Amino acid sequence: MGIKIAPSILSANFAKLGEEVKRINNLGVDYIHIDVMDGNFVPNITIGPGVISTIRKYTNLFFDVHLMIKSPGDHIESFINAGADIITIHAEAEVHLERLIRKIKSYKNVNDAKKKVQVGVSIVPSTSPGVFEYIIHELDIVLIMTVNPGFGGQEFIYSQLGKISVVKKMIRERGLKTQISVDGGVSLSNAADIIKAGADILVAGSAIFRAKNMKKAVNDFKNLSL
Ligand code: DX5
Ligand code: ZN
Repeated sequence: MGIKIAPSILSANFAKLGEEVKRINNLGVDYIHIDVMDGNFVPNITIGPGVISTIRKYTNLFFDVHLMIKSPGDHIESFINAGADIITIHAEAEVHLERLIRKIKSYKNVNDAKKKVQVGVSIVPSTSPGVFEYIIHELDIVLIMTVNPGFGGQEFIYSQLGKISVVKKMIRERGLKTQISVDGGVSLSNAADIIKAGADILVAGSAIFRAKNMKKAVNDFKNLSL
């Protein structure tokens, strides 16, 4: 299986978000990554469930909703109702992580009643991958942040490559299907290293939205020689 690509709409033009989502629709990508920030867990504030539900009608692609918010448990239902296919919460934002993971998985996907909502857990660069030890078997996605969350266009933090390998080993040893997604500073120049370390999904904001040709950028990611 090739690498999957999740463009982050944080780098899109918010004045015409619907059009931007339609544009992504034709790129041959696998997910749309939606960064939700509360100005508390991270310094920036972005969008909430209201905006997500308005762009839902422009695509059938999986909405991968990355919640960079405190007390995520208070809000998951609104994001699920807005059309999230995957809810990713931060380990640092929730004490009772195991309980919230189970809760998210108990919801039906509003886009397809036959499916459940998928769950992801993310960690910031300073958090040890050990936090996954007792929860990874419950997760569809582990999202490894390779920048300090809050903004697009930051530089990739290379120390995180080792963390990706550690999590990959954990997944292999347990025979799990959990996918590793890598988010922050991903570019064509570091993507091969990230994939070799064990990534299944690359989240890319500026590398796709600032490319002269978005379709070519996606194809270049997909066709990297490793
Ligand atoms: C950062 C966000 C990322 C961001 C990535 O806090 O979680 O998803 O949009 O943007 P780039 O790819 O530009 O680093
Ligand atoms: Zn993100």
